Amino acid sequence: MIEPTPAQMDELVAAARAARDRAYAPYSGFAVGAALLDEQGRIHAGCNVENAAYPQSQCAEASAIGNLIVAGSRRITAVVVVGVAPEPLTPCGGCRQRLREFATGATPVWSADLHQVQGRFTLGQLLPESFGPHQLP
Ligand code: THU
Repeated sequence: MIEPTPAQMDELVAAARAARDRAYAPYSGFAVGAALLDEQGRIHAGCNVENAAYPQSQCAEASAIGNLIVAGSRRITAVVVVGVAPEPLTPCGGCRQRLREFATGATPVWSADLHQVQGRFTLGQLLPESFGPHQLP
């Protein structure tokens, strides 16, 4: 596992916060930003994008993954999610699976709010015994 450098970590947190500032979350009022580090050290951010047809809403992590893919990457080496919540925010179940497609169980996932980094998990902790591309023939 390659941990981001302190400078990369600062950039990831800043990118996730900036993305969160652009969240479209008029229905929940819960803005989320996510930033992904790829294997080339590039950062791809995203925010949640809600919809009047509530189930069509998209999580911040899904937006960030779309941006990583369109930039030509296939690999996530670190994740930061930013939200303001009573407890440190972690990706929802569906997004844990989405991240798993391009990350490993060892990939670090940090949770942050507007002031500090609150927690560090691995994707394997968040999604143990996961189903992934390696299970398909
Ligand atoms: N949300 C995310 O964007 N990411 C998460 O990991 C948790 C939840 C969004 C979805 C919805 O727009 C709002 O937060 C409230 O659930």
